[in-house]
Amino acid sequence: MQARSGNRIVRATVGLVAAGVLLAVLVWWQPSGLYLWFKALHVIAVIAWMAGMLYLPRLFVYHCEAEAGAQQSETFKVMERRLLRAIINPAMITTWALGLWLAWDGGWLMSGWFHAKLAAVIVLSGVHGMLSSYVRAFAEDRNTRSQRFYRILNEVPTFLMVFIVILVIVKPF
Ligand code: HEM
Repeated sequence: MQARSGNRIVRATVGLVAAGVLLAVLVWWQPSGLYLWFKALHVIAVIAWMAGMLYLPRLFVYHCEAEAGAQQSETFKVMERRLLRAIINPAMITTWALGLWLAWDGGWLMSGWFHAKLAAVIVLSGVHGMLSSYVRAFAEDRNTRSQRFYRILNEVPTFLMVFIVILVIVKPF
């Protein structure tokens, strides 16, 4: 068991170092079209982040119906933990890293739309933090919030996403 988790850590570290080296080489080399490649990767990461942020509160809604200790509740715990660790967290880090690079390389740092987008993304990251704390609460069978709360919370990332996409594509100011 310990050997398997040790292997996973080694593989994850090798993967992260390889990705870091590749990114560093690309940023240093600056091949033509790098901006568009990074923008494409940014949008892919955004899609993964948003998919997780929209699905996780849905899982909480169903998890509320399962009794603590029941098989169904344990299954939801595994699904929530994997969704958070394997998709939502890495997607958020990638979105942020590439988004900040695009802002710096594209000269958007002083643009009004970018400031508004940044504010909305900070709120979105705050919602991400809240969802992580609810995953922990469910994992320890100490959720106190209602299904209705999670249904309403489910709408917040949707609303922020619509606002962010309009800002970055229309650039109204
Ligand atoms: C995490 C912080 C983020 C930063 C710093 C950031 C920054 C940027 C920048 C500077 C661009 C390039 C704009 C251009 O070339 O016209 C961009 C593109 C884009 N971003 Fe983000 N972004 C972030 C998060 C997000 C999120 C959360 C979403 C969606 C929910 C999003 C959606 C998009 C889309 C759709 C594009 C492509 C726009 C186009 O090509 O017209 N970004 N982002």
